[in-house]
Amino acid sequence: MSKKETFGGVWTIEKLDILSKYLDFYTTALKNQNFRKIYVDGFAGEGEITLRNGQKIEGSASIALNIGLPFDRYYFIELNTKKAKKLELLKYSRKDRNITIINSDANIALQSLVLNTDWRYSRGVFFVDPFATQTEWKTLKVISDTGSIDLWFLFPFYAVNRLFAKDKEQIVLWKDRLNNCFGGNDWEDVIYKKKEAVQLSIFEGEQFESDFEKVGTDSIIKYVTNKLKTIFPYVAPNPRIFKNEKNSIMFILFFMTSSKNPKAQVLASKCAEHILKTKE
Ligand SMILES: C[S@@+](CC[C@H](N)C(=O)[O-])C[C@H]1O[C@@H](n2cnc3c(N)ncnc32)[C@H](O)[C@@H]1O
Repeated sequence: MSKKETFGGVWTIEKLDILSKYLDFYTTALKNQNFRKIYVDGFAGEGEITLRNGQKIEGSASIALNIGLPFDRYYFIELNTKKAKKLELLKYSRKDRNITIINSDANIALQSLVLNTDWRYSRGVFFVDPFATQTEWKTLKVISDTGSIDLWFLFPFYAVNRLFAKDKEQIVLWKDRLNNCFGGNDWEDVIYKKKEAVQLSIFEGEQFESDFEKVGTDSIIKYVTNKLKTIFPYVAPNPRIFKNEKNSIMFILFFMTSSKNPKAQVLASKCAEHILKTKE
C-alpha cells in the first residue's frame, strides 16, 4: 500500500469495531431463520489496512469473514484491480466461506447484485465505505427498495461539504456530482439560504439584497439525515461522527434498515443504537 493509501484516522478502528459488533449480532439473531444471509462490502479494500503508525489491522472483508457465525454468501466489490487481486488471495485462503469478488465500480455492482437477488428468501448487511463521493443516491434507493437489507453507510461529510461551495454561484461546477449523491437538486434550497440582512447602499434610500449564504454544519447533517429518512424506514438517530485532529467532521457513519417489519426494525435499531452509543 502506498503512503497515500494508508488509512490513519482513529475512526478507521472505531468504524470497523462498530461493523464487527453488528455483524456478530446479526448472524446470531438470524441463526435460526431460513433466510440466506448475505454480506456485501461495496468498497471492500484489500482485506488488510496499514494505519499511519505502520500497524496492520484487519480490513472490513477479513472482519466479516472471521465473525463467529458466518454469512452464507460474501460479496466483495473493489474497483482497484490490485486490491481485488489481494481479495482473491483472501478468498483462496478461505475455502470454508462462499465468497465472490467483483472487480468493478460499486454503484454498478451493488445495483446489479440487489436486482438479481430474490429478497423474499435472503437478508443482508451491506457495508458502503467509500473514501469520497462515489456512492450514488440511486444505489441507496435500490438497496432501500428491497426491504431486506441493513446498511452501514459512511457518508463522506468533508468531501460533500467542500463541494457545497461558500459562494452559491460556484456550485455550478459540482452540481452534477452533488445531484448524483442526493438524487436530485433539492439540496440547493436547503443548503443555501438568502441572507436576511439587507445591505444599504451608499445612495440614500436605495437598497439591494445580498447573495445566498451556506447553512451551518448542523443544518447540513440534518439535511443528510432527513434525506436518508425519505427512503429508509429507519435511520439510527445517533450516527457516529468522525472528526480529524483539527476538529473538522470527516465522515459520518449512518445505520439504516430497509425492513418494514416492525419486529426486525426494533431488533436492528436497538442493537445499532447501542453499538453507536458505546465507545471503547
Ligand atoms: C475506505 S476504503 C475501504 C476500506 C475497506 N472497507 C476496509 O475496511 O478495508 C475505499 C475503497 O474503495 C475503493 N474504491 C474507490 N472507488 C470505488 C468505486 N467506484 N467502486 C468500488 N470501489 C471503489 C478504493 O480502491 C478503496 O479500496
